[in-house]
Amino acid sequence: MRNILVRGVAAGAIALLSLTACSSERSGGDATATSGSTEAAKGFPANSLIGVALPAKTSENWVLAGDLFTNGLKDAGFQSDVQYAGSSTTVADQQAQISAMTTKGAKVIVIGATDAAQLSTQVEAAKQAGATIIAYDRLIKNTQGVDYYVAYDNFKVGELQGQALLDGMAKKKAKGPYTIELFSGSSDDNNSAVFFDGAMSVLKPKIDSGDVVVGSGQTDIKQTATDGWKAENAQRRMDSLLTSTYGSKTLDGVLSPNDTLARAIITSVKGAGKPLPIVTGQDSEVESVKSIVAGEQYSTINKDTRNLVAQTIQMVKDLQAGKTPEVNDTKSYNNGVKVVPSFLLPPMIVTKDNVVEAYANDPNLAPLTK
Ligand code: BGC
Repeated sequence: MRNILVRGVAAGAIALLSLTACSSERSGGDATATSGSTEAAKGFPANSLIGVALPAKTSENWVLAGDLFTNGLKDAGFQSDVQYAGSSTTVADQQAQISAMTTKGAKVIVIGATDAAQLSTQVEAAKQAGATIIAYDRLIKNTQGVDYYVAYDNFKVGELQGQALLDGMAKKKAKGPYTIELFSGSSDDNNSAVFFDGAMSVLKPKIDSGDVVVGSGQTDIKQTATDGWKAENAQRRMDSLLTSTYGSKTLDGVLSPNDTLARAIITSVKGAGKPLPIVTGQDSEVESVKSIVAGEQYSTINKDTRNLVAQTIQMVKDLQAGKTPEVNDTKSYNNGVKVVPSFLLPPMIVTKDNVVEAYANDPNLAPLTK
């Protein structure tokens, strides 16, 4: 992948070394990697049951995904069982849902993991019963049982966010140093560290050179994490950062990993009566697209859920027909015990400058940009 090589060169590492390193960077795991699918596809009857276990509805993309899976699987002739985890008992809910899908004889189970590290027992039981497991959007860790991963390129998402933060601040104020704060997602979601690492690959050199200063000094992912991806947790942390660090100091930018948290950060800053910093985001949520058009939130990421679901359903169709599904990455996603063959889609940065073109083909978002 291009970003891996670019990063390797930037870090002064040789390409081979950087390719090896990238596997564990996306996962936090360090196990010896094996790539490729675990078994040859055998095919199954066309009207089989397909299970889809999604996390709690922590952002609009998950809400959209549920409807798209229900309709798309039906149109493709499958029976489907689409479930969401509840917002407080997420892990137990999802474990029970996957077990129920297995009992009902699902041939493929698509999983958007609530907690990357808590599903190995259920996933392995499902495999034992003959199901193929596709990790959707979020990787499942520490199990051989996951066969495929379908997602937008999460590291690239982080890189785009980091670059947007720098660009946005430079547009507002020609010369640094710029003072920023960093937020990351929920630590039980494998994506959170990948987004953060991608962003830090862009920001760290600027922090090291003094062009960018993290006002609070909180640069460790443990300090920046937002439990459960919950808006109230981000808002609370922003409130306390403003009190502790920004009495007289100006905050120029905030790295926010998604739109829900971006809006919580903006609410906090407004509540404190401070000038709005440059704030990044992700997901193209309706309220954030409106905020970008209004000149408040600076950026978001377009990861069109329709394409991600379509790609996943294509994998299901291939498996049904006894074909090996297409993947385009067999290096990046080490889940701790194996490298999971992946199909990665390209994310797109969206700011006020390209908001009209970015959503021209999205019937829900296009009207908001006119
Ligand atoms: C998804 C993001 C989303 C976040 C919170 C992540 O795993 O990739 O798109 O914003 O979860 O729901």
